Amino acid sequence: MAAKSRLTKARTAKAPALRPARDAGKKLKIGVAGFGTVGRSVAKLLCQEPDSPLLLTHIYNRNIQRKKDPSLPASIRWTEKFEDLLSSDVDVVVELIGGLEPAGAWVRRALGAGKSVVTANKLLISESGPELADLARKMGRRIEFGASVAGGIPAIIGIQEGLAGDRLYRIDGILNGTCNYILTRMEASGTSFHSALKEAQELGFAEADPSADIDGLDARAKLVILAQAGLGLRVHSKQIPCRSIAMIASVDFMYARELDCSIRQISVAEKSVVQNSPRRVRLAAAVQPALIPTASLMAHAQGSQNIVTATGEFSGRTVFSGYGAGGDPTAVAVVSDLYAIARSAGAPPGALPKTAEVPAEVSGGFTVPHYLRFVVKDRPGIVAALATILAKYHISIDALLQKPGFPHSALSFVMTLESCDSAVINQALEEIAHLDFHVEPPLCLPIFSE
Ligand SMILES: NC(=O)c1ccc[n+]([C@@H]2O[C@H](COP(=O)([O-])OP(=O)(O)OC[C@H]3O[C@@H](n4cnc5c(N)ncnc54)[C@H](OP(=O)(O)O)[C@@H]3O)[C@@H](O)[C@H]2O)c1
Repeated sequence: MAAKSRLTKARTAKAPALRPARDAGKKLKIGVAGFGTVGRSVAKLLCQEPDSPLLLTHIYNRNIQRKKDPSLPASIRWTEKFEDLLSSDVDVVVELIGGLEPAGAWVRRALGAGKSVVTANKLLISESGPELADLARKMGRRIEFGASVAGGIPAIIGIQEGLAGDRLYRIDGILNGTCNYILTRMEASGTSFHSALKEAQELGFAEADPSADIDGLDARAKLVILAQAGLGLRVHSKQIPCRSIAMIASVDFMYARELDCSIRQISVAEKSVVQNSPRRVRLAAAVQPALIPTASLMAHAQGSQNIVTATGEFSGRTVFSGYGAGGDPTAVAVVSDLYAIARSAGAPPGALPKTAEVPAEVSGGFTVPHYLRFVVKDRPGIVAALATILAKYHISIDALLQKPGFPHSALSFVMTLESCDSAVINQALEEIAHLDFHVEPPLCLPIFSE
């Protein structure tokens, strides 16, 4: 409620009618809010180019005394009052606090005060991106968020500007470096999920509470932003299903290898028209562990690397890849957004497509082959029981794989299924779950091709 009333206030404030934010030739004055991992790197990058058109003038953080960095120019004003940024002559507020609030309220206030905003905040942009872009437009200012997806990889700008001439219909990729680190470690060393997670935490690739990464929430927020920026679709995070990578076991990599596949956390958003209703658009989107061919580009993303691919009607598939997180790579994206604002002298292009559409349907299902892994207490008739239920749902089995050496008390085997809708498989799996031989719940993963 509070955020809403602040927005209304900002909207009713007198808009500066698209005037340039600064005189040509003058430096763009920057205020950084949030002097943490990314904030420090942004300040370092801004202060190392004496001829840059960007000038860092203010740094805001709570308890500012402990943050002061003597290596930065003495002219910078350090403050623990956000209002100091608003009442100053800074042209752009760089929001690097993170989280929905108070960052969201401060971004609204900065726009309302006639400042442009650059942010790396995926949560805020996935939740309120179109609303903030509307506010920026009304105020004749800009909001840029290139760092909010895939850190230093210029995916947003590449999609919005480099591919603006195409009609994109699919965005997919590896959007979370922590998950990619864990899965590639499991693949390379045969280690368990928990050991790989512990290792990632020790090396600083995973947070003490890794749930937002592992469970797919972080990647989902990025997918929402990419769906807005690339597909022109407004969708809420909660509409996109996400599944944890914690259910992947080393045995899955063993079976995946037999199928010439790797396992990665894959985010997909695909736009199509609703059948028999060509004016209505549907979105299939999900974040989940999936099998992908070992020879595919995504399988080559190692460690904490990210990869974003955009597929369009005319340009085919375009790939952006590199390091998607870390202070310095993320700061590069922030500073690049600042350069873009400096080049445009404040002209508001509208960061998100103005006509972003709400899809008529959103589903998490894809019609692709699937991988089913069972761990069972062995007895005759198991495969026949599974095949009977699958046949009832018109699902065809493609192959059956069973490695030797498992105990009869916990025998692990895999079925691959021919292409079918995930929703239909889920119905069959509900029935299969009631069979009495499971030692652990069956694992179902889509198999994506490139
Ligand atoms: N780190 C990355 O690799 C990365 C990559 C892409 C995007 N991002 C995004 O970049 C943003 C910043 O991330 P980060 O990694 O730099 O976070 P961080 O290291 O936690 O820095 C956040 C800074 O904001 C300050 N802060 C937090 N809440 C505040 C409040 N209520 N009032 C005043 N100051 C406050 C913190 O101060 P204290 O020191 O007092 O806590 C800290 O200095 C986030 O939106 C994140 O999602 C980060």
